[in-house]
Amino acid sequence: MSGLRIAVFASGQGSNFQALVEAASNGKIKGSIELLVSDKPQALVVQKAQSAGIPCHLFQPKDYPSREAYEQEIVEKLNNLKIDLVVLAGYMRLLTPVIVEAYAGRLINIHPSLLPAFPGKNAIGQALDYGVTLTGITVHFVDGGMDTGPIIAQRAVEVSAEDTAESLGASIHAIEQQLYPEVVSWFARGLVKLEGRKVTILAKECQENTQTAT
Ligand code: GRF
Repeated sequence: MSGLRIAVFASGQGSNFQALVEAASNGKIKGSIELLVSDKPQALVVQKAQSAGIPCHLFQPKDYPSREAYEQEIVEKLNNLKIDLVVLAGYMRLLTPVIVEAYAGRLINIHPSLLPAFPGKNAIGQALDYGVTLTGITVHFVDGGMDTGPIIAQRAVEVSAEDTAESLGASIHAIEQQLYPEVVSWFARGLVKLEGRKVTILAKECQENTQTAT
């Protein structure tokens, strides 16, 4: 299939992975998911990839002498498959420069908060504990830091007094499943321009989307 060649890295349930697979198969994303990379061979996302017939690169970090060693193997695989865009979707490991530098400008992540608020683990719990009335979702380029790369798109989600981690997580997940395929479709159409920390979405309709609170 022609179009953007995508690899997804994930360690968990795979709801974002599934949304990306569906968007690629129904043509919303002009491209194909060529590979799932997972450090958790037992994860639900791996079953989802197998059901969809998507090749998996599965590994156990403890089988390697260093993070750099398993990342070098992954980079070779990505290069062999001519991957254009690496999409992190609940991949629970910090990347080293081996991948970050090889795929600079072609490596993105989705995070369940309005960055720079609440980076790192348990962003939804952090937001609830802090008592914010508004949180959300950020899609960003990955750099060497923890959720610090240039921001591509954000969506806001209101937090109600009754919200629990489960209910807020469900609201956030539902919006993530729309936003991530949409952002990846912008890459497939060549609309995302990165200059320093500034990200421009070249089509006007998409620029408006990035500014619309949901
Ligand atoms: C999502 O909430 C995403 O924002 C975060 O990890 C979670 C992955 O969920 N980075 P899923 O595995 O896609 O269901």
